Amino acid sequence: MSLQQSPAWRALASHKQTLDCVLMRDLFADDPERFSRFSIRSGDLLLDYSKNRVTSETMALLADLAREAGVEACRDEMFAGSKINFTEKRAVLHTALRQPWGFQLLLEGGQEVGKDIAAVLGQMKGFTEQILSGKWKGYSGKAITDVVNIGIGGSDLGPYMVTEALRPFAHGAVKVHFVSNIDGTHISETLKRVDEETTLFIIASKTFTTQETLTNAHTARSWFLERAVDESFIARHFAAVSTNKEAVQAFGIDTGNMFGFWDWVGGRYSLWSSIGLSIALYLGFDRFLELLAGAHSMDEHFRSAPLDANIPVVLALLGIWYNNFFDFPSHAVIPYDQYLHRLPAYLQQLDMESNGKRVDRDGNVVDYATGPVIWGEPGTNSQHAFFQLMHQGTSCVPADFILPLKTQNPAGEHHDILAANCFAQTEALMKGKTAAEARAELGSAGMSEEEIDALVPHKVFPGNRPTNTLIFNEINPFNLGALIAMYEHKVFVQGVIWRINSFDQWGVELGKQLAKAILPELGSADDVATHDASTNALINLYRRSRNG
Ligand code: F6P
Repeated sequence: MSLQQSPAWRALASHKQTLDCVLMRDLFADDPERFSRFSIRSGDLLLDYSKNRVTSETMALLADLAREAGVEACRDEMFAGSKINFTEKRAVLHTALRQPWGFQLLLEGGQEVGKDIAAVLGQMKGFTEQILSGKWKGYSGKAITDVVNIGIGGSDLGPYMVTEALRPFAHGAVKVHFVSNIDGTHISETLKRVDEETTLFIIASKTFTTQETLTNAHTARSWFLERAVDESFIARHFAAVSTNKEAVQAFGIDTGNMFGFWDWVGGRYSLWSSIGLSIALYLGFDRFLELLAGAHSMDEHFRSAPLDANIPVVLALLGIWYNNFFDFPSHAVIPYDQYLHRLPAYLQQLDMESNGKRVDRDGNVVDYATGPVIWGEPGTNSQHAFFQLMHQGTSCVPADFILPLKTQNPAGEHHDILAANCFAQTEALMKGKTAAEARAELGSAGMSEEEIDALVPHKVFPGNRPTNTLIFNEINPFNLGALIAMYEHKVFVQGVIWRINSFDQWGVELGKQLAKAILPELGSADDVATHDASTNALINLYRRSRNG
């Protein structure tokens, strides 16, 4: 049966019509209990979803959709290690990486997952302690002071976002730098800030074939050798995180400095694996474990809470409600915490690489929307950039507002002002401002009736724009782990309901293939004529500039 013909979907479609003219401001006026009715707590995390265009009936019908899609059974299959990434014939077990010590899971084929994870964690712990204690010496006998993580996508965004978010928890012995872009500016500017005698390069690549990462890694290697000269010194300054031992060896990295992981860890789900080595080095190993423990606590919530009291499930269902029934095609994430400034970028990969799919599990092109466009910026900066559109634009953008109750940097009134803005924005988006309210406001400012008539349409806010507010006590490794895992599971639930495979990413391949074909053409002496007229002209313009 097609998804849109399923009983739960049809019930939601008809229920939506009854809500078309309902205003959230009236729902709040009619129900003083609306906040407690539509909020969920898990540990330190509170989700307030009362500012959504939903009633109890909506939430019950959405939960029916999740049940009908078999979300609970699919979730259990994921945790059990079934090969739910069927296009790549792989299990999806990032949740195993944050299980407490002693966890056991035997995979088909004989891998003892818990044992293997513990071995790599032990290796990471030993290495981290050596570096942070200064026992590990660079080639000239000095301790390591700078770590440069070279990776891209999941091998960059997670560690970069987490180390930015947890700056107040830095161990302090090393600084971390992240190089991802193939643009030579990224590596060049980073190398200007470090000293080869005291720098450790971590080459982070699941496949160890990614063009950007290997090119940057070779540039770093040449830079290092120009200064240190002796190739044997590479072993003191280069480590690798990968599933591909042969390629690591071929690059010349001592496999004693290689930290493994497994094909059942997707790139965008890999910060919990040895891809998190830069996180462990920045925070210290114990705090890396706290991050894992926070994620595990969210895993337990996701596994055990009933669907209607399950934070990731409720977030997923609300996303589907707007994306599929209201046709709102994007979703914003607005952290009111400067430390979380890379969270929207991280979530773009997590969500859009996972659910940016157009065929279902049977290979049929879907006739409904799947993954939304994810975007965002921290508050309050975003208020002065794109909130105009969020309040008065023609598209409605559902959004998550994220706020820690306590700041890591108490400074005068800053945090109160930040919090006031966060609460004010969700209130304004929900309530809006009617023409009568705008008229009264302008009247009390002493304007003439004529001026008021001209201005009122510009001063009206339609309101009824949905938001979730996520609040936790403070940003710390545990809470951040829980927050990230919450979004992972949200994306998973949506993928199940949309009947897509959230764990492959074939869509990134075509551009890579074409770039490989174009690269040698850029050096060609003759005009290129093998592409379409636009691509030929652009290549030839570049060639002429490049080749003089
Ligand atoms: O962008 C495609 C992708 O395969 C991502 O899924 C992955 O996180 C990234 O490239 C980097 O891949 P790797 O870790 O293998 O270098």
